[in-house]
Amino acid sequence: MRRLLDRRWPPIVAMLLLVAGATSLIAQQTTSASSVSEVATPAYEAEYGHWETIELPKEDRLNAIHTALLPTGKLLIVAGSGANQGYFEAGTFKTLVWDPVTGQAKLVPTPTDFFCGGHAFLANGNLLVAGGTARYEVPAAKVEYAGGVLKIESRRPVTRHVAAGTTFVSPKGGLYTSEAAITLAPATRTIGKGGRRTLKPSLEDVRINSVVKGAAGVLTQGGTYHMVGLSHKHAASLNIFAGAMTLEKEQWQGINGAAEFDPISERYVYVPPMPHKRWYPTLTTEENGNVLAVSGIDGAGLVQAGETDVFNPRTRHWGKGPFRYFPTYPALFLMKSGELFYSGSTTGYGPGTKGRQPGLWNLKTNAFRPVPGLPEATETETSGSVLLPPAQKQKVMIIGGGGVGESPLTSARTAIASLAGRHPSYTRGPDLAAPARYPLSAILPDDTVLVTGGSEQYRGEHESDNHLARIFNPETNSFSVAAAPEVGRDYHSEAILLPDGRVATLGSDPLYADKADTKSGKFEQRIEIYSPPYLFRGPRPVVTGGPAKVARGGSATFTVPNSADIRKIRLIHPSAATHDTDVEQRSVAISFTRTADGVHVRIPKQAGLLPLGWYMLFVDNSNGVPSVARWVQIT
Ligand code: CU
Repeated sequence: MRRLLDRRWPPIVAMLLLVAGATSLIAQQTTSASSVSEVATPAYEAEYGHWETIELPKEDRLNAIHTALLPTGKLLIVAGSGANQGYFEAGTFKTLVWDPVTGQAKLVPTPTDFFCGGHAFLANGNLLVAGGTARYEVPAAKVEYAGGVLKIESRRPVTRHVAAGTTFVSPKGGLYTSEAAITLAPATRTIGKGGRRTLKPSLEDVRINSVVKGAAGVLTQGGTYHMVGLSHKHAASLNIFAGAMTLEKEQWQGINGAAEFDPISERYVYVPPMPHKRWYPTLTTEENGNVLAVSGIDGAGLVQAGETDVFNPRTRHWGKGPFRYFPTYPALFLMKSGELFYSGSTTGYGPGTKGRQPGLWNLKTNAFRPVPGLPEATETETSGSVLLPPAQKQKVMIIGGGGVGESPLTSARTAIASLAGRHPSYTRGPDLAAPARYPLSAILPDDTVLVTGGSEQYRGEHESDNHLARIFNPETNSFSVAAAPEVGRDYHSEAILLPDGRVATLGSDPLYADKADTKSGKFEQRIEIYSPPYLFRGPRPVVTGGPAKVARGGSATFTVPNSADIRKIRLIHPSAATHDTDVEQRSVAISFTRTADGVHVRIPKQAGLLPLGWYMLFVDNSNGVPSVARWVQIT
């Protein structure tokens, strides 16, 4: 028998289940590829919910590094090269559009390697995807040619291109070639007080490698380099310098490729590249609808010093954002005030001593107001963060996490940051059932949050995936037990609320495949879908009519039979998740009055509370049962 209960369940429940015979079959079977992963009684399901495991046909399977719910109800699953170096070298980048209701799947051409990039929805429903992988890391043992980071500074007010493979000469006369093409922005001239002219050079970096193998290319000291083939005039306006050239491990590197994914044509659409290269960036929507790209590993393998890029979806151009350093994949939530709250959750890279303090970031002034006092703050890397429902409460929950890097420390702590007032503070939430890195969270339409998955050790080492699920209720500040998932989820995994009220979980990328950590891990390609208890508690309310678009601050009428029984209405923004980071999901409470055959809703007007875009409108009845969502575009 498969695992029905996690080990912390009261034995009495287990007894009851055995007595009940556990034979009734399952609702919610959606695709022919589905398999029944649990056998449970209706009473069990109404209390704990139900998980179903889905195996896609072989040709559609991929490594779900990124997953977003499109306004068509389909999931956009992006692997890019999917943590597979062979695919990277072959240029095999994958994206799948999958319909969780019909089971239909379609692989779509992927323009560049979006593996470990970032994403955010735009007001028109397109998903902006930016950043990804320029190179995989190479362990020191496999590094044959010494190399390092070369920086080029341009003092000319024109754009300059430097091709990949360009040769540079070191101070000692050694030859090195560049690994990638770079584009130097024009230097900017400004005229200051008293007409004084100043020039701000543009700067780019690129990895260079020695043309000779082994130790002969090693240089312990940096210095000034020159570029072969430059005219004297051009050479005079460039400063070229590099640090040490070593045979040390070669770091991952980011790209600046970007695209919009159009959910209607189900294709990527061209977007100019980001000004900066990013691997492990966070993209987050600003109050004005622009998208801010923050952090990530640059083109030389270093965490971005603090340059941020802003995408304007109306002009479809990138500009400059406020300069601020964060470790990679920082969790940044748009707040009602227009500030971004940095919860301290990050995944990937950056030292433990820099940019770890949670706080509120004002993008207009670039002021950062720390919010100190997070319990177990040093164990917040690989934690989850979620803007708790309803968003009006302005509370963010921080869930589990661990010490920086491959630290053995893992936390079971949850904490809630209350950010509405003038004096933001934390309260302790209930501890997780087990310490967890990479816990997943999905906001449910009834104002609770499913918290599931994660592993007790770094990337599931020692087979430490936890196979647990809990439902957090912000009202009572407590967890209730949910049925245990079949599939463990650690690194590179996601949880996504679906429009029918279920939750899909995808991905997981354990380092090892055995308890002793001797065999390489295998990427988990099964999808699992959780049906929460509310789906087993009687009839669902139905929204049968209403507008497809409503203005922010406006009002509208939706047809809902038996509207007298409606208790709550929520607009839930679709998730776009990766690496424990989902700053897109948010649930906004909608006030309403009942009409003879429906509800009259008033849409909040604050841009920081309700960014423009497509939302799922859920109505909940007096039994706590939500409708299937109706998609509404807030304009
Ligand atoms: Cu990654």
